[in-house]
Amino acid sequence: MAETPTIADSYTFDPFARHKFYHDVNLSLVRTAIERLDRDKPTGERVRVVELASGTGAVTELILDELARLGRPAEVIGVEPSFEAIAVARERLANREVRFEQGDVDQLVQVVPSADAVFFCNAIHLVPDKHEVIGKIARVIAPGGLFACNSSFFEGAYAPGSERFYHLWTRRALGWMRQHHPEARVSREKKATAMQWLSASEYADLLNDSGLRVVTDEHEVALMPLRSWQDIGRYWLFIEGALPGVPIPIGADALEYAAAEAFTELNISEVPRIWLQLVAQKA
Ligand SMILES: C[S@@+](CC[C@H](N)C(=O)[O-])C[C@H]1O[C@@H](n2cnc3c(N)ncnc32)[C@H](O)[C@@H]1O
Repeated sequence: MAETPTIADSYTFDPFARHKFYHDVNLSLVRTAIERLDRDKPTGERVRVVELASGTGAVTELILDELARLGRPAEVIGVEPSFEAIAVARERLANREVRFEQGDVDQLVQVVPSADAVFFCNAIHLVPDKHEVIGKIARVIAPGGLFACNSSFFEGAYAPGSERFYHLWTRRALGWMRQHHPEARVSREKKATAMQWLSASEYADLLNDSGLRVVTDEHEVALMPLRSWQDIGRYWLFIEGALPGVPIPIGADALEYAAAEAFTELNISEVPRIWLQLVAQKA
């Protein structure tokens, strides 16, 4: 299982996950999947829902709320490799019926031999071998069960016209580092293994290979304000992908400063970003 560095404690995903657009885009996926699950199951039957990569619990909370709204009895389990993230999630959901287990996809089958639905939100792009991970997830999904996942790091995530923001954000971040931390370098080697972006149809093919047929495939636009770019720019896993090899505190300051510069120079108040939202069903 992947180790999380101690720096993860200070450079957490939580501030980003608290933005309204993030809540809305995830709610849309959760609602689609949970309503379908509820429709497919006999009234009153208890379901088991697993959220892989549950992080700081933002999506877990939406899953619990949706199940409660529909009056569906459920066992909900979050599986997450980072202790720091689990601690935030446990505090956030202290009074809710949910448990968290430390682990990643390799521990999934021990934690839950079978599930009616598995969620994997805003994380699939972080996994190097997506084919293997989807295969392992598919194995724990019961026949007729659902897999729901989303990502804003796929081929098609950049809304038309928004490319200039990314170019400027990167340029200004590198410029700031040259000026304030000339010793910090982006590693070409690490860049080569940075996250790989797939297209919607490549994801559909991978899912299909594991016996999961896509039943809904949406592209949803989120309007992201400056503070959200600064918050994602201060998240350690994002920094590792955007500025590989750069020490996290330096990368965080560079990306925070550069996002503000890019917004000012382009005279914009938000940047649209596209989320791929997929729900698939096991035969
Ligand atoms: C961007 S956060 C998303 C958290 C949450 N799912 C959400 O949508 O708000 C990505 C999460 O994926 C977890 N993660 C990274 N690599 C993973 C892996 N190989 N298996 C499971 N989780 C992983 C990280 O620890 C982190 O909590």
